[in-house]
Amino acid sequence: MSGYYTVGGGRPLNGSLKVSGAKNAALKMIVASLIADGVTTLRNVPNITDVEITLKLCGELGATYRWTDDTTVEIDARTVNNHVIPVKYSGSTRTPILFVSPLLHRLGKAEVATIGGCSIGPRPINYHIEGLKQLGVHVDMTGKTAYCFQADRLKGNIISLEYPSVGATENLIMAAVAAEGRTVIQNAAIEPEILNLVGMLQAMGAIIYQDVNRVWIIEGTKKFRAVEYDVMYDRIEAASFAACALATKGDVFVEGAIQRDMATFLDVLRKIGGSFDIKPHGIRFSYEGELKPVNMETDVHPGFMTDWHPPFGALLTQANGISVIHETVYESRFGYVETLVSMGARIQLTTDCLGSRECRFTNKNYKHSALIAGVTPLRPGTLHIPDLRAGFAYIMSALIAEGESRIYGTEFVKRGYSDLIGKFRAIGADIDEVEENAD
Ligand code: EPZ
Repeated sequence: MSGYYTVGGGRPLNGSLKVSGAKNAALKMIVASLIADGVTTLRNVPNITDVEITLKLCGELGATYRWTDDTTVEIDARTVNNHVIPVKYSGSTRTPILFVSPLLHRLGKAEVATIGGCSIGPRPINYHIEGLKQLGVHVDMTGKTAYCFQADRLKGNIISLEYPSVGATENLIMAAVAAEGRTVIQNAAIEPEILNLVGMLQAMGAIIYQDVNRVWIIEGTKKFRAVEYDVMYDRIEAASFAACALATKGDVFVEGAIQRDMATFLDVLRKIGGSFDIKPHGIRFSYEGELKPVNMETDVHPGFMTDWHPPFGALLTQANGISVIHETVYESRFGYVETLVSMGARIQLTTDCLGSRECRFTNKNYKHSALIAGVTPLRPGTLHIPDLRAGFAYIMSALIAEGESRIYGTEFVKRGYSDLIGKFRAIGADIDEVEENAD
């Protein structure tokens, strides 16, 4: 069912909302539950499309699952008996490739159709493939469309990632926990969502510890019990609403937000003149006067998260001066710019690296840096969402603009934000969803 949002903008957002569980932790913890011998219970799981798809995938592999309340799901992995990830799931989310490790542990083999890119970049999986090979996995291509993975028993090894890939790090950790001997993953990702997954794996019986300089060390073990475990809060959602509060000159309390995982975001928010108060159960974000421009770069953790970038880009159209964003994680993260320009924003993209951080896109002709001039009044319009995080940026831009906007592509937003309408309404936004093709 497709549909659109209608948004009436031009007034401050005030109130409080409770942030949901993190999509980018929950998806991997659902996958990890297939390693356990029993029924895993995950709490604080967000009700979003990507979670539904990942649970359905578990079902296709033979597992059973059920929601025991709105945010708690039980997954029984004991009946997993199918090693082939149906091709219909490839391209919809990044999780299919992550199922390889649990399937190798349970069935000694896995088959996954090649997962394509999306609007923010080609999204290859070469780091996953190379790392699994280094753990003794045989990887062949079936036809042109599927990878076949085989391994009787994985053997620990020293793996040095070319880039701290979140997914590759998670996949290799899940592979290494049951491999023979010790595995060292160097130049690994260390995002808080990965620590959430590692905590669950350790509770299940895995032996994993983090060493200095982005290193994970895993001692392979054999038994993994099913656990009850909490998904962390979604810091991307928390930051998205924080940006929205400032952009509309409002005052919003985000219940569940934790300073520790958002430190870099809070620093940049302070640099542009935003205000935040750390409270016992969340963070209050409020507009305190004219916003200042900033030079900023996205990076792997603990840097400014690439998923925080699109809403922040929309916010910077309201800062008084010229801001610079250098995107170093994805080739095409600026897919949101054209639409914001159509609403009146003044944004110039360039293929240059407008920042000091090491960047894989130097001289590669990707428009991955932007100059954003503000303050620019935004005009309402009819918008079409290209990807998940741009979707939030569009709703935010419509809330800044005086008048009514119509935003198509609600399915993108529902992939990663649970009950977004309810949350926006809780802070006073004038937003509705209209479902088209209603029978
Ligand atoms: C995860 O994607 C998140 N998705 C992304 O969030 C997030 O933006 C990203 O990590 C970075 O933090 C989930 O967790 C489901 P990567 P992932 O592997 O694991 C390149 C959102 O909106 N790369 O760290 O796919 C890749 O092309 C989504 O919630 C390779 O070249 O990200 C990219 O340029 C968007 N080869 C960079 O590394 C590989 O084998 C980072 O990708 C793997 C990745």
